Amino acid sequence: MRHWLFLMITASLSCNTLAEQFNVQSPDSDIRVVVDITAGKPSYSVTYKGKPVIRSSNLGFQIRDQAPLQDNLSVLTEDREVIRQQWQTVWGERLQINDHYNELSLQLREQNGDKRTLGLTFRVYDDGLGFRYEFPEQANLQDFIIDEELTEFAFAQNYQSWWIPAYRNQRYEYQYLRSAVSSIDVAHTPLTLQGDGIAIAVHEAALVDYASMTLRNIDDNQKVFRADLVPWANGVRVYASAPMKTPWRTIQIADSAVALMNSDLLLNLNEPNKLGDVSSYVKPGKYMGIWWEMHTGLANWSPGSDQGATTERAKQYIDFAAQHDIDGVLVEGWNKGWEGEWWRREPTFLFDQPVDGFDIEEVSRYAQEKGLRLIGHHETAAGISHYEAQMERAFAYYQKLGITSVKMGYVGTRLENGKEWHHGQFMVRHFRKVVETAAKYGVMVNAHETIKDTGLRRTYPNLMTRESVRGMEYNGGSPDTGNLPNHTVLFPFTRGLSGPTDYTPGVFKFDYQKHRPFNRVPTTLAKQLALYVTIYSPLQMAADLPEHYQGHPAFKFIDDVPADWSESIALAGEVGEYLVFARKDRHSDDWYVGAASNELPRQYALVTDFLDSGAIYQVEIYADGEAAHWRDNPMDYIITQRTLHAGETLILDMKPGGGAALRFVKQ
Ligand code: NOJ
Ligand code: CA
Repeated sequence: MRHWLFLMITASLSCNTLAEQFNVQSPDSDIRVVVDITAGKPSYSVTYKGKPVIRSSNLGFQIRDQAPLQDNLSVLTEDREVIRQQWQTVWGERLQINDHYNELSLQLREQNGDKRTLGLTFRVYDDGLGFRYEFPEQANLQDFIIDEELTEFAFAQNYQSWWIPAYRNQRYEYQYLRSAVSSIDVAHTPLTLQGDGIAIAVHEAALVDYASMTLRNIDDNQKVFRADLVPWANGVRVYASAPMKTPWRTIQIADSAVALMNSDLLLNLNEPNKLGDVSSYVKPGKYMGIWWEMHTGLANWSPGSDQGATTERAKQYIDFAAQHDIDGVLVEGWNKGWEGEWWRREPTFLFDQPVDGFDIEEVSRYAQEKGLRLIGHHETAAGISHYEAQMERAFAYYQKLGITSVKMGYVGTRLENGKEWHHGQFMVRHFRKVVETAAKYGVMVNAHETIKDTGLRRTYPNLMTRESVRGMEYNGGSPDTGNLPNHTVLFPFTRGLSGPTDYTPGVFKFDYQKHRPFNRVPTTLAKQLALYVTIYSPLQMAADLPEHYQGHPAFKFIDDVPADWSESIALAGEVGEYLVFARKDRHSDDWYVGAASNELPRQYALVTDFLDSGAIYQVEIYADGEAAHWRDNPMDYIITQRTLHAGETLILDMKPGGGAALRFVKQ
């Protein structure tokens, strides 16, 4: 639903010899963008509160078999818009989103040669800006190949940066590196930067039919990065047909890194809901699954004696889930094709045939009888054509069984038998097809190893969450011993800016050393609870086994914590150090707070001024015990309760690798 508060459109100016500089600024005037077309060459620069952020940076394209589209351009038209509107999310971190921006659109045309036309639009918000190119319909640019996008980001300072390398085998599943931006080679986005009292994140919005943008350092002395579009196997970056619009190149800017997490820029730059009323099947919530026991070596995906997916085991999960506020149970390994080292061969998965020992009809029926749902699973092993050939049938099969949620994955270093990157236009197209097919059959999507999030969940509200991060799974079975304690207080400032993360928190049993002697979940138990608030996902897993939760007083927090919010506030934090989030339940007056630390102990004074002023709350506090330590004493925690007046301060005492989780129930 859209609430039009104020919309002003200035007249379009048609000029022959226009000024060569165009200014556009944020509603609060803090962010200023200058677009310059001097000598026919477009460039832009950005300042924040008077400080340079992006120095003059080139714009344009290299189109195959054509002259570069970046000089010899003149301005044909200039349009401006002032938009002040508000819209409501179907689900999310908050209910209402302000969409307030000032827009500048230029039509540029080559003065000679092919006389091609290129549109350039900048939208400037208080929390950042987006710009994109448009190729209108024209005679000399119809179906074409983009060999390079020449967009540059010339950073004003040698900012501190947090990044993961692009073009690597494990896709986005790396721990973030911290370095001066000049020492990056090529990085995925979001790339988060800090320095000179400013925090910045470069990413993209509305990646619909294009290659994803990575950032390549082309001049480390000058800190200049260029958009490096992930190519197809044949070297083509993008197959394009005019008319078309590129994704938005986004630059979020704030006073601090923690404030970046309160930005709605990416959602604002995506198109509104295209699916209409999805309330019959799109439901944020929590899930469990036959999953962690595979990752910790207690069971196997392959059929046989260790087979995790059995009717009996699924019913045990369902029985536990039904006694708690858990909406779904995932079963990995339920279908045929998991034998042996499935990730090393051509995929053999069949998506409508259950493995022996797993009666899917009975399990699905039993789940519904108990008031929840079975969650489907499509592991593709990166075999896209193998999957696409079955996709329609696979989703119809789920629909028939009453399954309204699927987890999927693309394990493999490249797609299509080692050919395509996971992040090129090939995958972007495939994944959109998945989301659209899922919508057709009334299914929510939770995707692993897929393309990064660029805010498409606004347009497709069945696209709930994704992994696209080094997840909890690495703590269970990774030969490199898993994630560092700072990982979960780092990636919300980077990967987390792009959208919901299926990190899969909630591990309560830290002793699985029998099968995994080198692995460890590097948190305390209290921090596991905090992650339900500090990491946003509308489908949030309770990752551990039912018997590890059974009778455990701390499970009450997982039971209570919602997965859909009317408000979310990143209160405090430093990248890779600590993070404190407050969120308000979308369906009650209750608030939740999560506070998480890296390997260092720290105290945080939580001022509860986010609560309804004048109100009294009963607060339940799940905190680290005195001797808690992620390495050798993770289970030490205490639960306390007290009454609190809104505005009071609580001291949260986090131990090494620890945290705190709080529930505020309005009285
Ligand atoms: C990788 C996923 O991230 C993980 O959650 C899943 O269990 C395995 N693939 C198997 O599909
Ligand atoms: Ca994964």
